[in-house]
Amino acid sequence: MRIDLGGSFRLPGTSVTLNRMGYGAMQLAGPGVWGPPRDVDVAIAVLREAVAAGVNHIDTSDFYGPHVTNQIIKRSLHPYPDDLVIVTKVGARRGQDKSWLHALSRQELIDAVHDNLRNLGLDKLDVVNLRVGEAMGPSEGSIEEPLTVLAELKRQGLIRHVGLSNVSRGQLAEAERITEIVCVQNLYNVAHRNDDDFIDDLARRGIAYVPFFPLGGFSPLQSSKLEAAATSLQATPMQVALAWLLQRSPNILLIPGTRSVEHLRENLKAATLQPPPEIIALLDAIAIGAGQ
Ligand SMILES: NC(=O)c1ccc[n+]([C@@H]2O[C@H](COP(=O)([O-])OP(=O)(O)OC[C@H]3O[C@@H](n4cnc5c(N)ncnc54)[C@H](OP(=O)(O)O)[C@@H]3O)[C@@H](O)[C@H]2O)c1
Repeated sequence: MRIDLGGSFRLPGTSVTLNRMGYGAMQLAGPGVWGPPRDVDVAIAVLREAVAAGVNHIDTSDFYGPHVTNQIIKRSLHPYPDDLVIVTKVGARRGQDKSWLHALSRQELIDAVHDNLRNLGLDKLDVVNLRVGEAMGPSEGSIEEPLTVLAELKRQGLIRHVGLSNVSRGQLAEAERITEIVCVQNLYNVAHRNDDDFIDDLARRGIAYVPFFPLGGFSPLQSSKLEAAATSLQATPMQVALAWLLQRSPNILLIPGTRSVEHLRENLKAATLQPPPEIIALLDAIAIGAGQ
C-alpha cells in the first residue's frame, strides 16, 4: 500500500522526481557489507515492500557485497518499474580482508560502471555518485581526473546523471566546471551536523543532499533527547531522527538502510510525523558539541 513519503524533489536539470523517503541497500549485502546475507528471502522481501510502498529511490553500489547487493536488487525488482531510480556509486573497492579501498583510476571507474550495469541488469545507470574522500568524510584535493572519466561515460550514454559523495564545497565547485552535479551524498544526521551550511547552499541551488548514515550507520544513534521526543510523539527514536532530517531542508532525500521489513515499515511511516517547533529545538541540541 502506497503511503506519503515526505513529498518529492526533482533533481536539477532533469525530469527525475524522487520521493523524499528512499531506501539505502548497503547493509542488505550481509554482515560487514560482505555477502551473502543471512537470509536472502528477507532481503528480497525488504526491497519488494519498499517499492510497493512507493519508494522510487534506491541507493546502492557494486562494491557492496561485493556485487551481492546489486544482484539481489536485480533478482528482486527486475524488470524495474518505470519510475524507479537506482543511484549507484563508484570510486571504491573491497580488499580480500574486507577493507574499503579507493578505486579511482580510469580503468577502475570504467570497470565499476560496467559491473554496475551488468549486475543491475541495466543499459544505462540513472545516477552515479563519484565517491572520494575517506570513510567518514571528505579529504581535500582535486577530483578532476576521476570526474572527467565519469563525464566521458555520461557522454557515451552509459550514465544519465552524475552526483558526488564525501566531498567538500571546494570539490563541488571544481566538479561543476566539468559536468552537471545533481546530488551530494555526505555523512549527516541529527547528531553529525558538519554539513549544515553546505546543505543550505545546495538547497538554494536546487541540488539534492542525500545524507548517508541518516540513523547513525553501523551504530544507530542513541540519545536521551531522541527518546524523549519519541515518547512525546508516540513514535520511535529512529522515526524521530528521520522526521528531523525531512524537516531540516526540502532538498534532503533519505536513504535509511535496514535488513528488516518491520524496520522498513517503521522508517517509511516517519514521513508522516510532524514534530512541533519545541521538539525540533530539543532535537537541534543533539548535535555533537551541543551536549547530549
Ligand atoms: N557514500 C558513502 O560513502 C556511504 C557510506 C555509508 C552508507 N552509504 C549509503 O547510505 C545508506 C544508509 O546507510 P546505513 O544503512 O549504513 O546506515 P543507517 O541508515 O544510518 O542505519 C542503518 C542501521 O540502523 C538500523 N535500523 C534501521 N532502521 C531501524 C529502525 N527502525 N529501528 C532500529 N534500528 C534500525 C539498521 O539495522 P537493521 O538492519 O537491524 O534494521 C542498521 O544497523 C546505505 O544503505 C548506503 O546506501 C553511503
